[in-house]
Amino acid sequence: MLVFVPPHPLIKHWVSVLRNEQTPCPIFRNAMAELGRLLMYEASRDWLPTVTGEIQSPMGIASVEFIDPREPVAIVPILRAGLALAEHASSILPATKTYHLGLGRDEKTLLPIVYLNKLPEKFPQGSRVFVVDPMLATGGTIVAALELLKEHGIDNKQMKVISAVAAPPALQKLSEKFPGLHVYTGIIDPAVNDKGIIIPGVGDAGNRSYG
Ligand code: PRP
Repeated sequence: MLVFVPPHPLIKHWVSVLRNEQTPCPIFRNAMAELGRLLMYEASRDWLPTVTGEIQSPMGIASVEFIDPREPVAIVPILRAGLALAEHASSILPATKTYHLGLGRDEKTLLPIVYLNKLPEKFPQGSRVFVVDPMLATGGTIVAALELLKEHGIDNKQMKVISAVAAPPALQKLSEKFPGLHVYTGIIDPAVNDKGIIIPGVGDAGNRSYG
């Protein structure tokens, strides 16, 4: 598994805005969306097939290269907080489909509970899937989400994970269960507390995004 923390000052900036406990809900959500835009840009580098050709510009014939619209690209935001991180995904990536997954955690056991599954029965052949969840804490949620994707026909090389903050327990689980997976995150933090919150992290991303 490869974990990328793109060394970009804007990524550091938006992570810092998220970290600030004084950041109000709408600004937090906006920071999450901007971070998602940048991480999506980095994660889509070298991963999106293109078509080339020639086109008539106002001043003559030009060589052009477009994202190939025949190659299926999907976004899977993990509700709730993944919605904020995926906010700009469809403006970065032309012609994507979005399939929502709702996962919560049992308050005592922290085990994931699937409450909404809008995945297609089988993804189209050759699909590339971005799974978007801001927090990779104990790892229970992201592992459950990726296992669901596998049941729907997606292998490790066909998916990339986008997160705002990742912690070692989640990264450890992902590397054991999904070799070859690529994870893009704004930052890696050192620990997770006994309530499943990343330390120092950004707090509860769902509550901070949606109140
Ligand atoms: C948070 C976060 C992740 C999950 C990570 O969601 O957005 O989905 O916890 O935790 P884990 O790695 O320990 O499984 P939460 O369950 O709080 O739901 P929410 O987004 O609706 O607030």
